[in-house]
Amino acid sequence: MIIKDAKFEISSVSPKQYPNGTAPEIVLVGKSNVGKSSFVNTMLNRKSLARTSNTPGKTRQINFYNINNGEFYFVDLPGYGYSKMSHEEKIISGKFIEEYLAKRNNIKLIVLVLDIRHNPTNDDKLMYDYILKTNLPFMVVCNKADKIAITKVDSEVERIKDFLGISYTPILPFSAERKIYTENMWKEIENHL
Ligand code: GTP
Ligand code: MG
Repeated sequence: MIIKDAKFEISSVSPKQYPNGTAPEIVLVGKSNVGKSSFVNTMLNRKSLARTSNTPGKTRQINFYNINNGEFYFVDLPGYGYSKMSHEEKIISGKFIEEYLAKRNNIKLIVLVLDIRHNPTNDDKLMYDYILKTNLPFMVVCNKADKIAITKVDSEVERIKDFLGISYTPILPFSAERKIYTENMWKEIENHL
């Protein structure tokens, strides 16, 4: 993929604010702080196009990044499972996520981002089951691979794969920090565009 241009287009809290048109969308879902916004930056080779933070709960709205002037969008959803969010905030961001996934009909790929070091949480499992029900194409990204020994990467991906009972869905290691494995990731994404 050649990135000629990448810009932030809009933060949406309701479907009325989603971009017009039918450009394909690649959407990032995952728990708070797992590295969804960092994934967007790394794939685009941009330092801080998407805002990231050490503090979970950084992304509170649905952010659309327009790639190559409408060729496709990266859609960065709010994270779930952030314990410090108030009950009300959890309901609101959950509603944003569900509304988007249920209503948007130009989603070409859902990228579920997990932490390679841990088994998926209950929230991850709920999201995984929800994604299966949507019947939309999806892949699983095991981020933060720089945090473990390179010799363990394959077996940790296998562990997560077994845990979720994945058979056909692609599941790949990633490190937004180290900017490795981006080529495999682009191959998967391009297959769906
Ligand atoms: P929310 O917006 O709260 O949902 O979080 P997010 O999933 O967008 O996470 P974000 O990209 O803001 O990253 C959270 C923290 O994890 C930041 O401090 C990042 O620098 C760090 N981080 C992201 N990816 C990696 C990675 O691959 N390796 C390491 N070591 N840190 C990472
Ligand atoms: Mg974020």
